[in-house]
Amino acid sequence: MKILFATPECAPYVKTGGLGDVSGALPATLAAMGHDVRVLLPAYRNMKVSGELGDTVELPPYGPFPAAQLLPVHTENGVTMLLLACPALYQRSGGPYVDPQGRDYHDNVLRFGFLSRIASLLGTVHSPCKDWQADVVHVNDWPTALAPMYLAEARALAPHEHVARSVLTIHNIAFQGVFPMHTADLLGVPAIWRGMDGVEFWGGLSMLKAGVQFADAVTTVSPTYAREIQTEAFGVGMDGVLRAQRGKLSGILNGIDTNVWNPEKDKLIPHNYSAAYPGAKAQDKAELQQRCGLAQNPQAMLFGVVSRLTPQKGIDLVLGALDAILAADGQLVVLGQGDAGLQNALREAAERFPRQVSVTVGFNESQAHWIEAGADCFLMPSRFEPCGLNQMYSQAYGTPPLVGNVGGLADSVTDATRDPGHGTGFVMRAGTPEGFRDALTRAMKAYREPAFWRRIMANGMARHFGWEESAAQYVEVYERVLGRTPTSSA
Ligand code: ADP
Ligand code: GLC
Repeated sequence: MKILFATPECAPYVKTGGLGDVSGALPATLAAMGHDVRVLLPAYRNMKVSGELGDTVELPPYGPFPAAQLLPVHTENGVTMLLLACPALYQRSGGPYVDPQGRDYHDNVLRFGFLSRIASLLGTVHSPCKDWQADVVHVNDWPTALAPMYLAEARALAPHEHVARSVLTIHNIAFQGVFPMHTADLLGVPAIWRGMDGVEFWGGLSMLKAGVQFADAVTTVSPTYAREIQTEAFGVGMDGVLRAQRGKLSGILNGIDTNVWNPEKDKLIPHNYSAAYPGAKAQDKAELQQRCGLAQNPQAMLFGVVSRLTPQKGIDLVLGALDAILAADGQLVVLGQGDAGLQNALREAAERFPRQVSVTVGFNESQAHWIEAGADCFLMPSRFEPCGLNQMYSQAYGTPPLVGNVGGLADSVTDATRDPGHGTGFVMRAGTPEGFRDALTRAMKAYREPAFWRRIMANGMARHFGWEESAAQYVEVYERVLGRTPTSSA
């Protein structure tokens, strides 16, 4: 099957969160299964992609979109990257979505309208890549979510031509790509699709809604989140649209890249260890304490956080219960960036309690791995969590996670209080300060029972979170939208 995977970020080249990890791993797994997979990604500044270069494809200017190039790079893992090179749109200082001050780029509508447009073209007979037209165009989140609409338009205009089917994966319903309705002209949204049955969303134009309306299938990244986003409490205004489209909505839990997130062969941690030989984890902890300036106390329960600092992640709950961690001689190591208020509050705590709290503001891949390895317990009290990857990394690293009872967290962590034999972490009974304190108390109590704690660690490390199963479920979705029976092959 020819699959185009379109994404605004892809590890290890460019990553702001879990979508980057998914884009790095899922296409590679699909390629290993024998599919012909290409990943469409903007060529951002300072990106290093190694592999064999293919022939450059020239893209002439089209409507408001400037001339650009597609640079194919055949990478080691069997995936061909299609880098969308358009310096005027993508080569900037700052991240994929925001400038160095953290503000959305003023022309995101054009930047990601273009990405969507090129994704759709690759699924038509007018594909700019000679001899390659996708069977399925799989788009991810709002920056690529206009592609299904363009494909629907192509199908309507030329019913006899072969047009790819489309699949949209929602990684986070909180990001909806909403722009003023007048941008519909710029984007070339057909007049009949500018209303409620099309791209209109509370008076504006939502790229994500376009994807939900026009994709042949919509998936999200855990079964629980697929149910949650159909409710008012979690739908961020999109719940009604999703309920109306629920026949094509399903949840597929993300996997983790076990080549990258594996304590046995992780090159970014000082000492490797495994379920059979977990001893070196204590050295990773000792060196993490040293590096962070914390008291060199092997008994101190070390809590870790690696996170975008946004209200989603419940970091305020951690700050609110800091007294309980400090009173129990515990320690806290935080790596994250985002919300200025949270950053300041965390920094202040670290200044007040330098031997017990360490905070690094920034994005640092190797430190993220080291915290997973060196911490005793990982804190992820999210208010909502489409899937979440760190709770899975934590289990693989023998670092039982404490998590909110939502989305993919609920689908991937077994509470050790409720099920001591199979527990892999601690699940909050309520998403409140009390709920967090209660889970923290339970975790600290379990930590003081070494045999129980070792059991929880071992249960987590024995879990399999590889991508194979999830990738097979995506293939089923692709086959469904192509109208093939699940058994017919690539
Ligand atoms: P989300 O995508 O909502 O941010 P996930 O748990 O799915 O949450 O994925 C987050 C990914 O980003 C993980 O790989 C995590 O290690 C990484 N990450 C988040 N913040 C940082 C940071 N400050 N430095 C390094 N890695 C980070
Ligand atoms: C989003 C979600 C996160 C999920 C990731 C990858 O960023 O917030 O829960 O794991 O996408 O799907």
